[in-house]
Amino acid sequence: MRCFPSEPTALCALIIVLVLALVIPINRSRAQGDMTLGQEVYEEFCGACHGYDGTALLPGAPSFSSGERLEQSDTVLLKSIRDGKGDLMPPWGDILSDEERIAILAYVRRIAAEAASRDN
Ligand code: HEC
Repeated sequence: MRCFPSEPTALCALIIVLVLALVIPINRSRAQGDMTLGQEVYEEFCGACHGYDGTALLPGAPSFSSGERLEQSDTVLLKSIRDGKGDLMPPWGDILSDEERIAILAYVRRIAAEAASRDN
């Protein structure tokens, strides 16, 4: 059986379909896991100031539902989340893992995208 470089046979096509069927759900559940983690951690540590729905509760804190500050790159935002910013934004580097901070940023960007698609 030679899948490549010869033309794919029916058996090869079947194998490819089976492999994709196995791999795609695994990736999907992983992405979903990150989003769930991001939401959980956001609600626990960030919602009190930035608002549970992304509309800031603390004056001076950006509202992520309006996309505030999110025009900045992931690198800049992750640095602010890790090290803190100004007088009121605490540093989270010692409290949250890299994975949690990355998951939160993905969740924050999703809040903004969903709010923007509701407004249009
Ligand atoms: C005690 C209130 C408070 C909490 C809790 C808080 N923030 Fe903030 N955050 C702020 C304030 C205030 C600013 C604006 C800081 C400034 O620019 O001076 C800010 C700014 C930010 C920014 C923009 C930084 C930039 O570079 O412009 C991000 C991103 C952010 N916060 C994410 C988070 C995340 C993620 C959490 C939870 C892990 C969190 N914040 C928790 C008050 C808070």
